[in-house]
Amino acid sequence: MEAQATYNYKVVRQFSIMTVVWGIVGMLVGVIIAAQLVWPDLTFGIPYLSYGRLRPLHTNAVIFAFGGSALFATSYYVVQRTCHTRLFGDGLAAFTFWGWQVVILLAAITLPLGFTSAKEYAELEWPIDILITLVWVTYAVVFFGTIMKRKTPHIYVANWFFGAFILTVALLHVVNSAALPVNLFKSYSAYAGVQDAMVQWWYGHNAVGFFLTAGFLGMMYYFVPKQAGRPVYSYRLSVVHFWALIFTYMWAGPHHLHYTALPDWTQSIGMLFSLILLAPSWGGMINGIMTLSGAWHKLRTDPILKFLVTSLSFYGMSTFEGPMMAIKSVNALSHYTDWTVGHVHSGALGWVAMVSIGCIYYLIPRLFGREQMYSIKLITAHFWIATIGVVLYIAAMWIAGVAEGLMWRAVNPDGTLTYSFAEAVKMTYPFLTIRLLGGLMFLSGMLIMAYNVFKTVVGAKAVNDAAIPAVAGAHA
Ligand code: HEM
Ligand code: HEM
Repeated sequence: MEAQATYNYKVVRQFSIMTVVWGIVGMLVGVIIAAQLVWPDLTFGIPYLSYGRLRPLHTNAVIFAFGGSALFATSYYVVQRTCHTRLFGDGLAAFTFWGWQVVILLAAITLPLGFTSAKEYAELEWPIDILITLVWVTYAVVFFGTIMKRKTPHIYVANWFFGAFILTVALLHVVNSAALPVNLFKSYSAYAGVQDAMVQWWYGHNAVGFFLTAGFLGMMYYFVPKQAGRPVYSYRLSVVHFWALIFTYMWAGPHHLHYTALPDWTQSIGMLFSLILLAPSWGGMINGIMTLSGAWHKLRTDPILKFLVTSLSFYGMSTFEGPMMAIKSVNALSHYTDWTVGHVHSGALGWVAMVSIGCIYYLIPRLFGREQMYSIKLITAHFWIATIGVVLYIAAMWIAGVAEGLMWRAVNPDGTLTYSFAEAVKMTYPFLTIRLLGGLMFLSGMLIMAYNVFKTVVGAKAVNDAAIPAVAGAHA
């Protein structure tokens, strides 16, 4: 088939499969560290498996390997389909796939060995950072190159979100990773003291806003209407939501640094912008959920739609909770406690993982020339086990977190502390165990997914180059 008359599905297929693989690996490491918090001697004191080394391995694997692969897969699929043109640069796209896999492997080797820049979500040392930059710039060339050669007059809103995610992550990564190398495995941040903290959380919060949110909203804007068979509820709202969201996220980072050496007014600005952020976040959620108007009945029978809509509910929940936690007096209670971990996972499991899973179930049959997934029942089973898993996880963390915060601040009439720190740790044990159970359930769901994907793929013929339909529509 002539190359220009077809879509490049090969790279989408590769990233989609790796989303499932890295999802299992990253969540398995999550389950291991959750188990370590219940049984601290679980890994027999082996340094490579210590909590401090596995925890960044977990965050890197779930965010960048699992979430990243899902973002690459869906953005490459959506940009081609909505622009009615083949992906720009087959070789460049292949480089982004293999380059990203090498980054992940290097992370999986260096983090357990203890090499780290000690910046959260940016722990990888400088040579890997350079490779990330190369891959990311290539990603931008492929994505925007495709937009440039589009056959459609306008740029569908999903691509605005993917585009903002790609540009902003490049900026965040380059600025925050600026460092002075002392040897191949060690570097020191270009910034010092409180400036370093500020740059780090400008990065960290926008990593949430752009890596863990904007790109996934891009998924929402394509896959929710597709799966529901309805147009986006409001195109106007999507545009307002886009600009408001990307403008507001940039200023909210200081809410990670309340009551620190950061100037007080900076903290207040962070709090204010976090509160404002509720509006665009909910605008997006409402736009996604209302897209189902007239198609609500499909929720009863379609588990893929269940994943997508439930993910939006979790998105709404975590973006309500976030602004509340950004209020200084609330943060005085929540900071350092498991409440933060609960908030993180209501966003990460409930929103990011659920929406990705829904999209991958949508994609797999199309990428392998099948009518549908091998078993719809198994998707339904996955949905319920995952949903119950998230709820157990976050409810346990909320209870433990609020209790920790209250116990730490409780004082007797004579001014002494009511509880010792160890008493507060002891209190969390049952909740840490429930979290482990929730995590195990979520992981089991991923294993069911892997089986279902495997059964769908075996015997099927991989679709590398799908024909571009002759009739140009708004978003095909
Ligand atoms: C089976 C699923 C999962 C389990 C069992 C799990 C477990 C854990 C545990 C035990 C921690 C450490 C918490 C602490 O330090 O007290 C953690 C941290 C974290 N996990 Fe997960 N996780 C899972 C899935 C995910 C996913 C899918 C994502 C992202 C898409 C994610 C993102 C994070 C982040 C960002 C942190 C750092 C939280 C913080 O610093 O407050 N996790 N996870
Ligand atoms: C309106 C949106 C949001 C706001 C205003 C917000 C606000 C906050 C606040 C105040 C904290 C606690 C900071 C601290 O005490 O250290 C936090 C932590 C965090 N949030 Fe959110 N959040 C939002 C949405 C989300 C979403 C959707 C996700 C995930 C997809 C997410 C992921 C995280 C992570 C990973 C952390 C922990 C960072 C760390 O300490 O390592 N947030 N957020």
